[in-house]
Amino acid sequence: MKSIKVFAPATVANLSCGFDVLGCCLDTVGDEMIIHITSTPGVRIIKIEGADLPLETEKNVAGVAVQALLAEYGKEIGVEIEIFKKIKAGSGIGSSAASSAGAVWAVNHLLGTPFSTYKLVEFAMVGEKLASGNAHADNVAPALLGGFTLVRSYTPLDVIKLNNPKDLVMTVIHPQIEVKTSDSRSVIKQNVSLKQAINQWGNVGGLVAGLFTEDYDLIGRSLEDVIIEPMRSILIPEFQKVKDTAIRQGALGCGISGSGPSIFALSKSMNTAQKVAQGINEVYKKTGLDFDIHISKINNQGVKIMEL
Ligand code: HSE
Repeated sequence: MKSIKVFAPATVANLSCGFDVLGCCLDTVGDEMIIHITSTPGVRIIKIEGADLPLETEKNVAGVAVQALLAEYGKEIGVEIEIFKKIKAGSGIGSSAASSAGAVWAVNHLLGTPFSTYKLVEFAMVGEKLASGNAHADNVAPALLGGFTLVRSYTPLDVIKLNNPKDLVMTVIHPQIEVKTSDSRSVIKQNVSLKQAINQWGNVGGLVAGLFTEDYDLIGRSLEDVIIEPMRSILIPEFQKVKDTAIRQGALGCGISGSGPSIFALSKSMNTAQKVAQGINEVYKKTGLDFDIHISKINNQGVKIMEL
């Protein structure tokens, strides 16, 4: 039996302007998983700690993602999965993506990397489809590839790893209310105006350019969402106050993390990220809601080996 323990990172999807196409990978928040390759064929979830998630393979995002990988691998092998959840479900920082990405990355590693990391994105998307009804890649791509990623196209899938300017630090506040991605997607109108589209694709281009040229002001100017944020922010208590506070404390930009309720703020230094954390902590203390605040550099590697 071959085994591996991995860190499966949390991710911030959308990054304001890039609904379903942009995302980045966190370093200090993530699940742990132990994966075993055995001689008894089939995929089995043998342990889940830290969350009430299904053990049945077909109902578990890690289970179906690994099944997709094995279907293409073609050889009869067995996989056993242990999941130690640290990222809460429905938090908006890629909980399901971490499980899917961590599982397929670990299995691929134990098999001697028959698949490229880009190919693993496709397998992990099967888990996302099970979790939210939609096979979006903007959490699994950064979880697998690290850094910042862009999904240039879904059909065919074309994922691009972007540059990761070294000074960026994320502050994420997670109010302890669950917002299901499927619910948060259902509030989005299916049509956008040409004016909104022009605004949004200008920002996507600006953000990508800003990341590559390491122009922090351009990154900040581009962290704007005129389409999704106005519809979803009503689901998040004190969203506007948190955003105003984060910007006042020096953040480059602030928006909804993935489908919420987490809110992210991107800063140019650890010092600013900590000031942002203090500011939003003051705002949220007054709500009476429980919340967590994470401060994290951008993880440029994605899934990491903890023990072989
Ligand atoms: N792009 C997805 C959404 C991410 O916003 O619904 C979900 O985490």
